[in-house]
Amino acid sequence: THNMKLAVIPGDGIGPEVVAEGLKALHAALRGDVTVDETHFDLGAARWHRTGEVLPESELEQIKEHDAILLGAVGDPSLPSGILERGLLLKLRFDLDHYVNLRPSKYYRGVPTPLADPGDIDFVVVREGTEGLYAGNGGAVRVDTPHEIATEVSVNTAYGVERVVRYAFDLAMRRDQRLTLVHKHNVLVNAGHLWRRTVDRVGAEYPDVTVDYLHVDAATIFLVTDPARFDVIVTDNLFGDILTDEAGAITGGIGLAASGNINPTGAFPSMFEPVHGSAPDIAGQQKADPIATISSVALMLRHLGYDEAAARIESAVDGDMEARADAVEAGAPLVRSTSEIGDAVVARI
Ligand code: NAD
Ligand code: IPM
Ligand code: MN
Repeated sequence: THNMKLAVIPGDGIGPEVVAEGLKALHAALRGDVTVDETHFDLGAARWHRTGEVLPESELEQIKEHDAILLGAVGDPSLPSGILERGLLLKLRFDLDHYVNLRPSKYYRGVPTPLADPGDIDFVVVREGTEGLYAGNGGAVRVDTPHEIATEVSVNTAYGVERVVRYAFDLAMRRDQRLTLVHKHNVLVNAGHLWRRTVDRVGAEYPDVTVDYLHVDAATIFLVTDPARFDVIVTDNLFGDILTDEAGAITGGIGLAASGNINPTGAFPSMFEPVHGSAPDIAGQQKADPIATISSVALMLRHLGYDEAAARIESAVDGDMEARADAVEAGAPLVRSTSEIGDAVVARI
């Protein structure tokens, strides 16, 4: 039997509720063929209130010793916005060099969606994870005066853009061989043209991949009017953040959207988490949909090479989606708690 060293960061709000279901699915899917050595890290709002710590260096080093990380969500209205988001979540993505933020979107027919005609939605957003406007390159002067100036300067390196673009082309080759670059090079002429030239140059090595380009504003339109046009979308950190919440909404809700923060080199563990946040509005009420986290566990299993276990979770999730669609069709949509959904998935596994 193999052993998987898993770092677990339940975090804040609905984080612990959905992670509990993700872990249930993980253990059911592995069927004891693989032992899981879980280390739970007490990081997030409660820890900060108690000790003032966000992510001590010693814990970061411990986390690095694991094969993968499962994270729920971080952020809480009881502390200033940004402390945990930057100091914990982005610190992990940056220090572990998670340059690919992989966010697949698939529509399960019959599942409630705001779209009248969703069509065949099956695309993956490859979001750059370590640069752009998230780099923390900026500052503010004369704060809280009428003369305040605040800047956030987007950082885009040839190295950083090329590696994520290459990943996206490789992924397109394994899928439907269509790639859409989303940016805003009509206005962001520095970063935008670096991205455009990189896609042109790397794309020449992938003649089988059809390349398309959309400005981000237009991309938000097509996500609603014709989402089936997309196969692989490659984009920068902030555009990818925004588009993937929209992608969650059109495919049946943000509670279904899974993600992986991948370090393709394997130098550091990759981190898997739902696309959504800590949802303070529904926290502690067992109202959160755990499917996003459960599907993130499937992405983690694929990443680690446990394909059979991943497939067990994927088909159980498919089954749950069919059950939802059937219930809607029968005029009695399912109303279930977070753990009831988790149990239903485990039963299918
Ligand atoms: P959010 O994703 O937490 O919530 C947005 C809306 O989606 C809310 O109405 C919420 O109830 C709903 N929602 C989210 N997850 C759901 C689920 N599993 N099932 C059903 N409904 C769900 O985004 P927000 O409100 O903008 O942010 C809340 C906090 O979370 C902030 O502190 C933010 O910084 C943080 N955040 C963290 C992460 C992360 O840890 N990866 C991601 C996004 C936001
Ligand atoms: C996400 C979140 C994060 C992001 C925040 C909480 C830092 O919105 O994972 O999508 O912007 O990447
Ligand atoms: Mn987001």
